Amino acid sequence: AATIAIASSTSTTAAVPLTPSPPSPHIRMRAARFRSYDDYLRHQLNKTLDPRLRRVWATRDWRRKVDAFARAFSSLQRQGLLRNASRALCVGARLGQEVAALRQVGVADAVGIDLAPAPPLVVRGDFHAQPFDDATFDFEFSNVFDHALYPDRFAAEIERTLRPGGVAVLHVAVHRRGDKYSANDLLDVQGLVGLFRRCDVVRVSKVDAFGLDTEVILRKKRSAAHP
Ligand SMILES: *[C@@H]1O[C@H](CO)[C@@H](O)[C@H](O)[C@H]1NC(C)=O
Ligand SMILES: *[C@@H]1O[C@H](CO)[C@@H](O)[C@H](O)[C@H]1NC(C)=O
Repeated sequence: AATIAIASSTSTTAAVPLTPSPPSPHIRMRAARFRSYDDYLRHQLNKTLDPRLRRVWATRDWRRKVDAFARAFSSLQRQGLLRNASRALCVGARLGQEVAALRQVGVADAVGIDLAPAPPLVVRGDFHAQPFDDATFDFEFSNVFDHALYPDRFAAEIERTLRPGGVAVLHVAVHRRGDKYSANDLLDVQGLVGLFRRCDVVRVSKVDAFGLDTEVILRKKRSAAHP
């Protein structure tokens, strides 16, 4: 079982102090559709809590997605980017298919966060303010960048909770419209990479991952000073 210490209360997702990300020519924000941060959270939760979708994610989707994630994670293991002993976090994991996949390939200490918890794989947490101490994880995975209302916070929180030398793997759609729950459109991969100032790029490659087309692998600099 996961033994990750949750730094602060996980009982609330509201009251996250946020300032809007500086404008980027590479990221088109869709913030205009949200009246407030609470409105944004409600909108995201509306999809995450949709009983029909949750049923599909837990049944028809489950095995197919876990197996696909497991293949991707096995490949990262072979490349030395993920180890069985890694402490791993999946950011925006919904029901936790990617967490199940990590555990399946031998990464026992894996957990996910999402606005709504899905025990035992996913605990409650807002990716704009992760409920973990600095330098907690060796590995983080996410495929929900398009849901970030504040892309720089999304990136800064991953960098904060990664250990120096830790690896982040992001699956994103570049220059493709997301769904109606997307908060941003990534027009150029530089828009994402440029947000990770405390990381080096290991690799950017094309993938075919549930509608997402680009895999970005980053490694937190060993000398990364905390801001
Ligand atoms: C999501 O929104 C729809 C329509 O606005 C509403 O009928 C539904 O109850 C909402 N679902 C949740 C889980 O909030
Ligand atoms: C990692 O765990 C998997 C699944 O338990 C196992 O098959 C594999 O041999 C382990 N890898 C290493 C390097 O120990």
